[in-house]
Amino acid sequence: MKILVTGGGGFIGSNLVLSLKNSGYEITVIDSFLSGNIKNLEYFTGETIKADISTLDLNKKFVNQHFDVIVHLASITDTTFSDDREMIRMNVDGFKNVLNFAKEKGAKLVYASSAGTYGRGKIPMQEDQIPEPLNAYALSKKMMDDLARKEMENIIIIGLRYFNVYGPGEEYKGKSASMIYQLFQQIKAGKNPRIFKYGEQKRDFIYVKDLNEANLKGIKSEKSCIVNVGTGTAISFNQIIKILNHNLGLNRECEYFDNPYDFCQDETRADTFMAEDCLGFKAKYDIEEGIEDYCSSLLNK
Ligand SMILES: NC(=O)c1ccc[n+]([C@@H]2O[C@H](COP(=O)([O-])OP(=O)(O)OC[C@H]3O[C@@H](n4cnc5c(N)ncnc54)[C@H](O)[C@@H]3O)[C@@H](O)[C@H]2O)c1
Repeated sequence: MKILVTGGGGFIGSNLVLSLKNSGYEITVIDSFLSGNIKNLEYFTGETIKADISTLDLNKKFVNQHFDVIVHLASITDTTFSDDREMIRMNVDGFKNVLNFAKEKGAKLVYASSAGTYGRGKIPMQEDQIPEPLNAYALSKKMMDDLARKEMENIIIIGLRYFNVYGPGEEYKGKSASMIYQLFQQIKAGKNPRIFKYGEQKRDFIYVKDLNEANLKGIKSEKSCIVNVGTGTAISFNQIIKILNHNLGLNRECEYFDNPYDFCQDETRADTFMAEDCLGFKAKYDIEEGIEDYCSSLLNK
C-alpha cells in the first residue's frame, strides 16, 4: 500500500512514518520543515520531499503516481503563532490542496484535527457538540472539519481530533512541545517545574505510540468519520509533576505563575465512544505507563 504523509518530519508524523515503514508500507513524506526536523527522519529510508503543502502543485509533482492513502499532518502547530491570517491560510489552504488531490486520485484521506476545536465546551468532549475554537489554530482545524464533512460522500475521510500528545520526537517543537516534555527538562536540570497558577487545569494526555495505532486504524477504515483521539481521562499539571518526580527519583516543588494567555482550556477530556465504535480504537497507555516509557527513552538519549 502506498501512503503519502504530509508533515512526516514532525513529531507525530515521524513516529508514524517509522512505524508504517516497519510494517511494510511504502511511504512518501512531504514536509516544509517549518517546525519539523530532518533528524526525526534519520532512520527513514523512503522518499522525502521538502515543500510547502499550501502551495505545492500535487498533481504536477505526482503525475502518474498513485497513493492509496494520504495522511495529512502538516500544519502550523504553534498555537501562539502571531499572524492569524497566515495560520488560517497555511492550514486551511494546505488541507484544501490535499483534499482536492485525494479526490482526484480517489485516495483515502486521514487528517489531524484537534481537541482545540472544543474550546471551553462541555466535558467530556463529544464529536457532535458545537465547536468553540478559542484561537486561530483551533479555528483552522474547525474549518478543516467542516470542509471534510462536505466531501465525505465522495471519498473516505477520517478526521482524528487529537487531544494532548506527548512522546519521543517532540523536542524540535521547542516551546510548542508538550508540558510533559517541558516539565521533564526543568526537573532534570535541577529546577523547580513552572506551571500556570495553580496547576489544577487538566488535560487528556495521549502517548504518541497510541497515535500510531489510531492512524493505522484510520488508514484501514472503510467508513468516513471525525472522532476524538484521547484516553478519556484528564490529568492535572500538578499530578503530571508528581509522576515525573517519581520517575526521576526527585521531589521538586512546583513554581506557579500567572497565565498570560486568554485562550487556554481549563480541561480537555475526550469522550472515546465514537473512536471505539467507528474505528475500533482505544488508547493502550495510561498516563503512568506513557510517562514511564517516555522518561526511559529521554534518559537513554
Ligand atoms: N501534538 C499535539 O498535541 C497535537 C494535538 C492536536 C492536533 N495535532 C496535530 O497533529 C499534527 C502533527 O502535529 P505535531 O505535534 O507532530 O507537530 P509538528 O509541528 O512537529 O508537526 C507538523 C509538521 O508539519 C510541517 N509543516 C507545517 N506547515 C507545513 C506546510 N505548509 N507544508 C508542509 N509541511 C508543513 C512542519 O514542518 C512539521 O514537520 C498537526 O496537524 C497538529 O495540528 C497535534
